[in-house]
Amino acid sequence: MKTLVIYTSQTGFTQRYAEWIKEETSADVLDLKEAKKKKADYFQSYDAILYGGWANAGKVTGAKWFFGKAASWTSKKLVLFVVGASPADNPEAKTLMDKAIPEEMKNKMQGFYLQGGLNYDKMSAGSRLAMKALLSIMNHKKNPTEKDKAMAEMISHSYDISDRKFIAPIVSYVNGTV
Ligand SMILES: Cc1cc2nc3c(=O)[nH]c(=O)nc-3n(C[C@H](O)[C@H](O)[C@H](O)COP(=O)(O)O)c2cc1C
Repeated sequence: MKTLVIYTSQTGFTQRYAEWIKEETSADVLDLKEAKKKKADYFQSYDAILYGGWANAGKVTGAKWFFGKAASWTSKKLVLFVVGASPADNPEAKTLMDKAIPEEMKNKMQGFYLQGGLNYDKMSAGSRLAMKALLSIMNHKKNPTEKDKAMAEMISHSYDISDRKFIAPIVSYVNGTV
């Protein structure tokens, strides 16, 4: 299975997952910026194309480009993987994935969520501001639940909940063992 992994990453989590998937599937890896420069025929020889983007306010960074391309990719295994700060068992991760793939694309590709983390040191100033605003909203919530408080505490600093083991379902899917 000739496989290509395309990704975009601001603070490194999605890139690390892309590299782990590369190691397990012998894929080629391209940053989205590089992929955008490629002509249509570059993608033809691949049997499987995966796109990985990080969750940004409920949307998947760069996914629009992937969906645009995927519309013309037939007979390929297509995967969208989304890396976010929510733990995978948080209902927010499910909500995000339910909306991640447009209706008309759902029969063309498989979606996977991967828990990443937060890295304030590598974030752009704009992203840091957005997170600060979110934290402020959470800290000013009236009658916060224990879950709200735990979430606010969690996002008040950097953390890393990524793990190589989470790519197993993606690798199985690409290698055709599921
Ligand atoms: C502005 C902003 C919005 C975010 N929105 C979400 C979100 O809606 N859901 C989520 O799980 N994580 C969200 N995150 C967290 C990132 O998706 C997370 O840090 C991810 O691991 C970043 O991947 P990267 O290191 O490849 O850039 C957000 C982060 C930023 C900076």
